[in-house]
Amino acid sequence: MIGDKKVIFSGMQPSGFMTLGNYLGALNNWKKLQYDYNCLYCIVDMHAITVRQDPAKFRKAGRDILMQYIASGLDPEKNIIYYQSHVPQHAELSWILNCFTYMGELSRMTQFKEKSQKHSDNINAGLFDYPVLMAADILLYQTDLVPVGEDQRQHLELTRDIAERFNSLYGDVFTIPEGYIGKVGARIMALQDPTKKMSKSDENKNNTIALMDDPKVIMNKFKKAITDSENEVHYDPENKPGVSNLLGIYSAVTGKTIEECEKEFANCGYGNFKTSVGEAVVANLEPIQKKFADLQNNKDYIESIIKKNTERASAIATKTLSKVRKKVGFVEKIR
Ligand code: TRP
Repeated sequence: MIGDKKVIFSGMQPSGFMTLGNYLGALNNWKKLQYDYNCLYCIVDMHAITVRQDPAKFRKAGRDILMQYIASGLDPEKNIIYYQSHVPQHAELSWILNCFTYMGELSRMTQFKEKSQKHSDNINAGLFDYPVLMAADILLYQTDLVPVGEDQRQHLELTRDIAERFNSLYGDVFTIPEGYIGKVGARIMALQDPTKKMSKSDENKNNTIALMDDPKVIMNKFKKAITDSENEVHYDPENKPGVSNLLGIYSAVTGKTIEECEKEFANCGYGNFKTSVGEAVVANLEPIQKKFADLQNNKDYIESIIKKNTERASAIATKTLSKVRKKVGFVEKIR
């Protein structure tokens, strides 16, 4: 808790670009949380370097993602949006927690196994230790709730184990975090293969709509989207995954229910349907793209946000860390 509100913490890697899937699936919900919770959104650049990054692209992606969050409506005054590498307490706590985490636990992590297969030429210690840094992220802020997807559940479990282990040795130091299962956002699927999720790391760019895609590009991608041979706009994810995904997107950007959307497109061929979905998405993204462009031209504002939010995060982190330092028996720092 901070004040009288529970703490929500989430981290996201600054790799690639944000997609329509991230926006409709996650961000749209985050916007609603800001009134009832203290939310921290950490851009986890230290996690991202566990795989090789091109420095120039990485820096640009890091800058862009912050502006994209703000442009999509996350209020940087209500939420703490900041960079992990700007708050060194993450690294410091992570080292301490390393000494309370077992090799065996880390070797069992599914993500480590998968990533070390995928990046077999670079199985570095950071990749192995990734979950401990994630535990530090979460525990530094006495987080109550962590909105995580299926793929991060195991890491959250480990975080809880580490926190409980530490608490049982030293007393109540860390809040034990739980997964946040909120209202599920729209699950947006790949346009060319609607049985899999839209992912920013997809090699086929026709599968994804980037938040910053040009309107012409967006229209083209929707025109090419896979449907089926029936020519009937009807919601049936099992048998009509392509059409259902497009209906889901249309419903999410217009705020209409699926039934309303079905009615709207009854007797309308797939061609017109796809054009309408594309146009609705373009209209929805237009203000975000405009705000992003404004932010790009407003360096002073962005810098002030970065500075303020780093300070806010740091103040909370410092509190937890000094408790931890005391508990493990480090000699007090002289200031
Ligand atoms: N590991 C998460 C992912 O890849 C990102 C992350 C880092 C995170 N630290 C976190 C998520 C803390 C939630 C809480 O998606």
